Amino acid sequence: MTTTLTWYGHAALGLETHGYKVAIDPFLSGNPSASIAPEALEADFILVSHGHSDHIGDSVEIAKRTGAMVVSNFEIAGWFNDKGVAKTHGQQHGGGFTHPFGHLKLTLAFHGSALPDGSNGGNPCGFLITTNDGKKLYFAQDTALFSDMKLIGEAGLDLAVLPIGDNFTMGPDDALQAVKFLQPKAVIPIHYNTWELIAQDADAWAQRVMQETAAKAVVLKPGESYSL
Ligand code: NI
Ligand code: MN
Repeated sequence: MTTTLTWYGHAALGLETHGYKVAIDPFLSGNPSASIAPEALEADFILVSHGHSDHIGDSVEIAKRTGAMVVSNFEIAGWFNDKGVAKTHGQQHGGGFTHPFGHLKLTLAFHGSALPDGSNGGNPCGFLITTNDGKKLYFAQDTALFSDMKLIGEAGLDLAVLPIGDNFTMGPDDALQAVKFLQPKAVIPIHYNTWELIAQDADAWAQRVMQETAAKAVVLKPGESYSL
């Protein structure tokens, strides 16, 4: 069964797999690179990597409108409950759970996670998803480079989604090293060009990836999709 990933700009993504729509970090209103309006996004699940406003984004409104279940760390899942979101599921780093859309494990991320209202957002995470037909997808979301990415790569990744914007996350050099640690079949860069502060030349980065690693680098424009 085909799994399709759409990049909506910044770190906002939509995964369609096994008939389920999974939104990831849907920051759309206030996102100058957003390719879809929050009212137009359909979701059965919403994955939130950490508490920063450029990742929480429109998650509360989208969850209330669509009835989607919000999946995040335990602290952020509780925050969504407090905001009136009916269905949430809290996990924690290293912990896996089989959801209808596939198996989800929260991975380490080196970053912050305070929520927009100052609440404790726990620790930031990435996502390791195994689809129902066995494809492995790793979404680093906001993080520094860390050598335990080698362990994540041991899963045998079909796709890695990595930030390259620098300043708040890995920049291009560290993201290239991350590809070497993860050894995915394909890699998609995110979290760049939203603002001048994180402007990057993704095509130049993709060239380096393809010269120095065996991974296929896929540069999407906001709104474009990649199927695997
Ligand atoms: Ni962040
Ligand atoms: Mn961010």
